[in-house]
Amino acid sequence: LNTALSRDEKLLSICQLLSDSIDYYNWVGFYFANQETKTLHLGPYAGAATDHTVIPFGKGICGQVAVSNTNFVVPDVAAQDNYIACSFTVKSEIVVPLFVNGENIGQIDIDSHAIDPFTQDDERFLEFVNEKVAKLYTV
Ligand code: SME
Repeated sequence: LNTALSRDEKLLSICQLLSDSIDYYNWVGFYFANQETKTLHLGPYAGAATDHTVIPFGKGICGQVAVSNTNFVVPDVAAQDNYIACSFTVKSEIVVPLFVNGENIGQIDIDSHAIDPFTQDDERFLEFVNEKVAKLYTV
């Protein structure tokens, strides 16, 4: 990616590339953690605008990953108690934490209109994407 782009522009390009390239990636965005306020804040994203620009730690799939530090794959959002709905069209979700020097600074969040589309290949792929994204924070 062109180094003349800002970090947010690069993140936006990644979101757009992922959502354009993978048919079941229907909304792709980054959330970033504020450890003082214990909240996640929406960063660059591709897809429909969402009301959920600030999410308390522990709340929803994203908020749970902020405290669990592990991937969260939701094959069917209707079967989840602690889930924040953004749109009726969303059927499934995957959230993969973003580590910089071992610290969980945020996450990539992907919503799908398909039921149960995410495999371990998606987890490995998104971990790889996040490893690349992490490098944007260590230079
Ligand atoms: N569904 C998420 C909220 C964020 S939206 O998917 C963009 C959750 O339950 O945390």
